[in-house]
Amino acid sequence: MENLKQHEVIYKEASIKDWDNLAKFRSRYSFEDFNKAKNTFEIDFLNSENNKNKLFIASHQDKLIGYGRVGLHTHSDSNEIYGQTSEVPEGYYTKGLLIDEAFRGKGIGRTLTILRENWVKDFDNKIYCILSLKNNNSVQMHLKLGFKEIKKNLCYPSDKPNEMSGCLYIKEIAN
Ligand SMILES: CC(C)(COP(=O)(O)OP(=O)(O)OC[C@H]1O[C@@H](n2cnc3c(N)ncnc32)[C@H](O)[C@@H]1OP(=O)(O)O)[C@@H](O)C(=O)NCCC(=O)NCCS
Repeated sequence: MENLKQHEVIYKEASIKDWDNLAKFRSRYSFEDFNKAKNTFEIDFLNSENNKNKLFIASHQDKLIGYGRVGLHTHSDSNEIYGQTSEVPEGYYTKGLLIDEAFRGKGIGRTLTILRENWVKDFDNKIYCILSLKNNNSVQMHLKLGFKEIKKNLCYPSDKPNEMSGCLYIKEIAN
């Protein structure tokens, strides 16, 4: 995919019609099977109307090539971010970003992140994310996009007991 033309990539909010494709795409890249992957996106669709969660997708020639999730984390409800509760601030978090391997390094992760930031700007002037230090690609991308580390030693879902590779990042997104 050397000569990807940016105008050939279509970005939009996901709809229920994209749900199966999203689950297939996610299960290709994670240990989750189709049904587990489908459950992962359920919260995005359930909460998309009340401004708690949003899911953006990228496609190329009608094929799903990436998604980016964003959601509101509060201490009082069960809309948890990677299992974290009161240890991390309330607010909007980017929650998952996955790009088709053949389309990485072409600005799609950046665009999906900017779309998520722009959506959050209507409700808040900052956005958080929790990353694992073991995922250097993701850490490097978020640092490039202006996220700053504010807290270390959080438990990340893929951590082994006592590993605590999670870090909390923030980005100011005021207009
Ligand atoms: C991490 C990931 C989402 C990046 O998406 P991408 O579409 O390849 O990233 P982009 O092309 O939009 O890159 C945006 C910026 O980050 C930088 N970047 C991306 N990956 C990088 C890497 N591995 N090392 C250093 N910088 C990197 C790019 O250079 C670019 O900056 P620039 O425009 O100044 O050159 C993608 O590699 C992926 O899907 N990985 C597997 C899943 C994953 O780790 N998701 C993140 C979990 S939170």
